[in-house]
Amino acid sequence: MQDNPARPAVGVRLCAVADLADPGAKGFRFRAGDTLFAGFVVRMGDQAWGYVDSCPHAGWPLSVMDDRYLVRGGDKLLCAGHGALFRPQDGVCIVGPCEGDRLTPWPVRIVEGAVLTA
Ligand code: FES
Repeated sequence: MQDNPARPAVGVRLCAVADLADPGAKGFRFRAGDTLFAGFVVRMGDQAWGYVDSCPHAGWPLSVMDDRYLVRGGDKLLCAGHGALFRPQDGVCIVGPCEGDRLTPWPVRIVEGAVLTA
């Protein structure tokens, strides 16, 4: 799973849980030379999930505006490309052109109030 050299190693601190709204999401970008890794974290209560920021439909980033990953109600992830909706808890597309596909997990964990790569 470490095929992208820009992808951060396990245990890298991404942010404080308190930096994320509840529900909320935040994107992260890492660069290694010419290679970019883009991921995002979504928080609901005391849980957080991370995904590679690439839609299984056409590979576009989900959000065209910073950190706008969730729909207005905050219960689904939205790909702005063609409107696909995903469950935050498992990344499965429930509506849209890639229905049944899922986002690529970018594992994270919460440790002492911080979100870390896992
Ligand atoms: S790129 Fe995400 S729905 Fe088309």
